[in-house]
Amino acid sequence: MRRSTPPTRARWLAGLVTAALATGACAVVSLVAATPASALANGLAKAPPMGFNDWNSFGCAVDEQLIEQTADYFVSSGLKAAGYNYVNIDDCWLLKARSADGHLVPDPVKFPDGIKGTADYVHSLGLKLGIYEDAGTKTCAGYPGSLGHEQTDANDFAAWGVDYLKYDNCNNQSNGSLADYKARYTAMGDALKKTGRPIVYSICEWGVNDPATWAGDIGNLWRTTGDINDSWGSLKSIINQNLNLYPYAKPGAWNDPDMLEVGNGHMTDTEYKTHFGLWAEMAAPLLIGTDLRKATPATLSILLNKDVIAIDQDKLGVQGQVIAQGNGTMVFNKPLKNGDRAVALYNSNDAAATMSTTAAQIGLTRSTAYSLKDVWSGTTTETAGTISAVVPAHGTALYRVKAVSDYRKFAPATTLGVTSPSSYTGADIGIAAGATTTFASTISDYGRDALTDVRLTADAPDGWSVAATSAWSAKRVKTNGSFATGWSLSSPATAQPGNYGVTLTASYAYGTHRPVAVTRHVVVQIVPTPPHGSVALSDVTWVSSTNGWGPVEKDLSNGETAAGDGKPISIRGTVYPKGLGTNAQSDIVYYVGGKCSSLTTDVGIDDEVGTKGGDVLFQIFADDAKVADSGKITNTSAVKSLTANLTGVTWLRLHVDPDGATTYDHGDWAGPQLTCS
Ligand code: GAL
Repeated sequence: MRRSTPPTRARWLAGLVTAALATGACAVVSLVAATPASALANGLAKAPPMGFNDWNSFGCAVDEQLIEQTADYFVSSGLKAAGYNYVNIDDCWLLKARSADGHLVPDPVKFPDGIKGTADYVHSLGLKLGIYEDAGTKTCAGYPGSLGHEQTDANDFAAWGVDYLKYDNCNNQSNGSLADYKARYTAMGDALKKTGRPIVYSICEWGVNDPATWAGDIGNLWRTTGDINDSWGSLKSIINQNLNLYPYAKPGAWNDPDMLEVGNGHMTDTEYKTHFGLWAEMAAPLLIGTDLRKATPATLSILLNKDVIAIDQDKLGVQGQVIAQGNGTMVFNKPLKNGDRAVALYNSNDAAATMSTTAAQIGLTRSTAYSLKDVWSGTTTETAGTISAVVPAHGTALYRVKAVSDYRKFAPATTLGVTSPSSYTGADIGIAAGATTTFASTISDYGRDALTDVRLTADAPDGWSVAATSAWSAKRVKTNGSFATGWSLSSPATAQPGNYGVTLTASYAYGTHRPVAVTRHVVVQIVPTPPHGSVALSDVTWVSSTNGWGPVEKDLSNGETAAGDGKPISIRGTVYPKGLGTNAQSDIVYYVGGKCSSLTTDVGIDDEVGTKGGDVLFQIFADDAKVADSGKITNTSAVKSLTANLTGVTWLRLHVDPDGATTYDHGDWAGPQLTCS
C-alpha cells in the first residue's frame, strides 16, 4: 500500500475498516453516529446532484461545443428525463490573467459566446450550468484562482447564469489549519449567498481537513477523497474512504467521493456497476465523467438505470451504511423513504463470493415475506428473509427490498453455487488439458415457497464431457433448504490454455407456476503444463496474479502503476536478475500438477522504497496448506531465504501480506527457483 499525504480522520476511519477486514472475521459494524452538521440553508441539492463534468475524460480540453453537445445529448438520450440536469465545466475555461479591472475572463477561443452564452444555451434546454474555481491563488491547472476575489467572481458567476460552483483547493497559501480551510471556503460561500442567485456549492478540498465534520454548514457537498481515476484500485480505495462518513450526509449536504468514471474504458462493466451502484447506495452525486457523444449502449444502460437512480435520489436522504463486513466483502443497507431498503452486497475480492444478509439485519422484521428487486437484471423474487447472491469478483449485487404479503406472484429467491477442489482466484475450476476433475453445484431456496420438480443440467464446450456423479433431480427443496449435485468434468487433450465455460442450469417450479430456470456460467481454465527440471519461477506462466498497486512485475521491482515500470530487483544492496516484484497485498498462483518437488527463493522489501517504509509477510501455500512464512519483513530486514516442499502438490500460491497499515509494501520474490521432474 502507498500513502502520500498525512492521515486525516477520514483516512483513519478507512484504516479501521481495513483493519477489521484484515482480521478475516465477519464482524457486524456499529459505529457511533456523529451529530450531523446542520446543512447550508440555501434550499439546494435536496437530493445528490446529478449531471456531467468534463474533467475525468477531457482534462483541460473543455470548450463551449463540448458543453453544448453534452447538453443536447442529455435531452436526446433520455438522461435529462432520468434526472441528470447539471452540465458542469471544470478547470481551464478561462484565460491565464484577469482583466485590467480584476475580472476572470472566459477563454474566447474555447468559449466564443462566453460563459453567459453557454449558460443561456444550456438553460434553453431546461438544464443547468456549473463552473469551477479554486480557493487559492491559482487553479490546479494554473489559471487565476478566486482567493481574495471571492465577491467579484461570485457576482460574475451569478451574472453569467451559473447554477453550480465546484471550488477546488490548489495553490491555497494555507497553513493547513482547520480555521484556514473553513475561512477560505466560507468566504466563497458567503459571496455566493450575497449574489442572491441559487448556486449549488461543491467544496473540493479532497478530504484533507475532515470536511464531512464542517462543510455541511458551508456547502452542499464536499469531496471526501483525492482524485478518482479509471481503475479498480482507485475505485476500491475511494469506496473505503467514503463509506464511514455516512452519519454526515443528509438532504442539502452530501459526501462526494468524486465524479463517475463509468464508460471510460479501463474498468469492466461489472466494476462500473459496482461504481454506479455504490455511489447510489452512498447517496453520492452522480456526475457523469465520460464522453457521452461516444457512450456505448452498455455505458448508457448503467447511467440510465432508473432503479439505481431512485436509490441515489431517495427523499429520505440517508447514506447507506455498512452493516457487516469481512474477508473483502461488505453489506450496505440504505433505508428509503417508503420503508423499503436498498441492500448492496459488495465483493471487493478477486474471486466470486457467495454473500448473504437477512431482512432482520437490515431492519425489516414485520413481514414473513419480502420482494427482492435485482436492479441490474430487473427481476423480482421473493424471500422468507435471507438475501443471498453469488457476487462476481469486484461486483455488487444491489436489491430493493420490500415487505410483501402477495409473495406468490414472484418466484422464490435462489442461489446456484459451485465449489471445486481446484478453484482459485480468476476461475471457478482449473484443469489441465486431457484431465478430469470434480465440482459440486448447490441450489438453495430462500423463498417462502418450496421449489418443486428441481432439475440440474450442465453443458460443456465441444470435445469436453461433463456428467452428474450424484442425483441431478429432486422433487422438492423447501424454504432455506438446498440440493447438491456432484459433477465430473473432463477436458480434451488438445485444449489450449485459456478460459472456457460450463453452463449450469437449475430449473424448478413453485406454487402453481410453470418451471423457471436460473443459469450459472462456470469459468473453467485450462492451466499451462508445469515446467521440467529446475527453472526460474519468473519464466513460468502463472494462472492468476493479483497485486495491490499496478501488476506483478517479472524480473523487476514493482513500480506501482503500469507493466514494466519497476527497477532491477534489489534487496539490501544485492541485485537479482530474476524474480517477481509485488506490492502487497499480492497473490500469484501456479499450476504445478504434482510434478514439482520444491521452490526456493529469497524475499525482502525492495531497496527502491528507501526509508519510506514497507512491512510485509511472505507466505507460500501448497494447495491450501501454508508451507513457508517469512515472518515480519520491513525495509531494514536482511534478505531471508524460504524453501517450500511441493511433493504431491497441485497448486502453488505465493502470498505477500500487507501486515497492517504501513506503506510502500514493495515485496520482492528474489531469484525464486522451481524444481520439477
Ligand atoms: C483537482 C480536482 C479535480 C479537477 C482538477 C482540475 O484538484 O480534484 O477533480 O477539478 O483539480 O485541475
